[in-house]
Amino acid sequence: MTTDIVIVGVGGMGREVFRVICLINRAASPGEPRWRVLGFVDDYPTEPDLVLVHRLGAPFLGPTRRLSGLPSATRVALGVGRPRLRRETADAIAHYGLPAATVIHPDAEIGADCVVGEGLFAAGGARVTTNVVLGRHVHLNQNCTVGHDAVLGDYVSVNPLAAVSGHCRLAEGVLVGTTAAVLPRLAVGRDAVVGAGACVTRDVPAGVVVTGVPARPAPPSAPDARPVVMAAHGRQDEVDHPA
Ligand SMILES: CC(C)(COP(=O)(O)OP(=O)(O)OC[C@H]1O[C@@H](n2cnc3c(N)ncnc32)[C@H](O)[C@@H]1OP(=O)(O)O)[C@@H](O)C(=O)NCCC(=O)NCCS
Repeated sequence: MTTDIVIVGVGGMGREVFRVICLINRAASPGEPRWRVLGFVDDYPTEPDLVLVHRLGAPFLGPTRRLSGLPSATRVALGVGRPRLRRETADAIAHYGLPAATVIHPDAEIGADCVVGEGLFAAGGARVTTNVVLGRHVHLNQNCTVGHDAVLGDYVSVNPLAAVSGHCRLAEGVLVGTTAAVLPRLAVGRDAVVGAGACVTRDVPAGVVVTGVPARPAPPSAPDARPVVMAAHGRQDEVDHPA
């Protein structure tokens, strides 16, 4: 069986989602489900990203309104790395009524008795052990780990090589930066950011950015001049700034 899919976001995350979808198809045995990628949509594509999408051999369909009128079985995958933008994008396209795809790399592992919300993206080498709850549109990037009994809320991102320990609770919209660690049984509040390389040893309040070892609240940085108005455009190389 083949299911049509559209990727939302032409940035790096969207193109990584595309790659994983291609690998799923390549690994599928005859008769196993496959994806047919209709293309990418994005309301604010940049020219360089469009060039890169073209180089991958995938069509750019246009803005997200192109989702209108697609057959109701068409799935969407949110290729938006930043949790807050991913939530905004999901809200912005919800009225099209298309179900979210669950995209799991053949070399990712989701263990026994895990609850998986719709829209999970798990990249190669992501490891989720047992009895874990993953909310909607969770992104697990390359080689991250999530330990037993952890609960990850909607739109959580765990970046490459980060480790979320057993019994941790990450609220909606949390970003765990590359190679960061969250020690067992800790709670990280809504839209908080764990900076790359940090080691979280205490609970993190909502909306706080923590960095370092042990992790401490980071001093506020200069106001961000980069646009955050994009609905469907989130690139993995951009940092997140909770409101
Ligand atoms: C913590 C973080 C959110 C801060 O972002 P920011 O507010 O834009 O920070 P800036 O880049 O302006 O840096 C501000 C200061 O914090 C320092 N800093 C930035 N990230 C840091 C980190 N992870 N750990 C320690 N210090 C950090 C910078 O060196 C800079 O210090 P300075 O003022 O002495 O020069 C971000 O750097 C981060 O770690 N994001 C994780 C995203 C990630 O994992 N990306 C990889 C995707 S694959």
